[in-house]
Amino acid sequence: MNSTFYCLYLLLISVGNLGNLVNSIDKQELEFEKILNSSINPCTNFYKFSCKDWISTAEKPSYEILWNHWHASANIINAKLRRILERNSSEMQSFKKAQSMYFACLNATREDRTDELALLINGMGGWFLPKIHCKVASQYRWPMKVAQITKFANIHPLLKMHVEVDFENGSRHILYVDSGDLVMPAYILEHPESHIQELLQYKEWIIGTAKLMYSTEKISLNLNEDVDDIITFEIQLAKLASADNKRKLVTIAELIEKTNSIDWFHVFKTLFDDAGVELAGNNPIAVSWPFIEKLTELLKITKPTIICKLN
Ligand SMILES: *[C@@H]1O[C@H](CO)[C@@H](O)[C@H](O)[C@H]1NC(C)=O
Ligand SMILES: *[C@@H]1O[C@H](CO)[C@@H](O)[C@H](O)[C@H]1NC(C)=O
Ligand SMILES: *[C@@H]1O[C@H](CO)[C@@H](O)[C@H](O)[C@H]1NC(C)=O
Ligand SMILES: *[C@@H]1O[C@H](CO)[C@@H](O)[C@H](O)[C@H]1NC(C)=O
Repeated sequence: MNSTFYCLYLLLISVGNLGNLVNSIDKQELEFEKILNSSINPCTNFYKFSCKDWISTAEKPSYEILWNHWHASANIINAKLRRILERNSSEMQSFKKAQSMYFACLNATREDRTDELALLINGMGGWFLPKIHCKVASQYRWPMKVAQITKFANIHPLLKMHVEVDFENGSRHILYVDSGDLVMPAYILEHPESHIQELLQYKEWIIGTAKLMYSTEKISLNLNEDVDDIITFEIQLAKLASADNKRKLVTIAELIEKTNSIDWFHVFKTLFDDAGVELAGNNPIAVSWPFIEKLTELLKITKPTIICKLN
């Protein structure tokens, strides 16, 4: 992601009352009209009604992995937001805040960003540094690290812990514990033998990032093997996540019992400590099952350094 998109993305997720501005974007230009083919009856063939013209006319930009209506619309909205934020002036408080956040975010140089990232990653236990503390296997508590990084950076490497509407009962929200978001799409990680080229590119990308973040003297001598280990581990994770999992409602006590006594109370407390949420032992949690049990087994036999680096 280049920094402009990163900034716009941050804005979109963080500034709720940009509503007026976004509303002022002409809906027609979101191109849905052009995608839907109203001469086809949706009741006869919904797929053709909604997708046929898109499939025959859309062109995927060469730099994108995936391309769909959402991506196309997001690009249009981002371009408009950018024009508005860069050229418009308004006395509206929310506009001023959005604009100063946007400019402050663009203002960060690449060095600022990598320093920040290095600081964050060192705090999480280090990444490709030889003397990182995550080497101490007995002390590496991965669920706590996942909670911290979820909270700090809103990324979900091993597990995705998130609060959403309970799909079984729309009048409440519950905590979900699902498989994490991996960097590469599942179809690549689940069939690595058919995607050798993509995985090589991925490896180069990780190595490039590591080198950008740390000076050469600091970096692990086994960088190449370390990155191979991480990718192998991600392939295992992707396979676990794609297995036949269902969400199951459990209590925290049940979750602790099924996962080798991981202290989930502590983990969830870390996640919510300033959110004013009361955690009771009988709160239902929707957990991806048997994913969580298998993950716990896998992590028992995985070297902590690998888990740590993936995090
Ligand atoms: C819509 O579907 C009809 C029937 O398949 C087709 O003739 C037409 O070219 C499509 N596109 C538009 C924009 O109507
Ligand atoms: C400025 O914002 C208004 C809506 O608030 C919009 O109509 C106008 O097109 C914008 N100007 C530019 C240059 O984007
Ligand atoms: C951009 O960065 C400079 C130097 O760090 C700072 O003085 C300036 O106020 C920043 N501008 C914005 C809009 O944040
Ligand atoms: C749905 O959630 C509400 C709020 O927590 C609760 O009062 C209600 O009993 C629940 N309904 C069912 C069918 O579980």
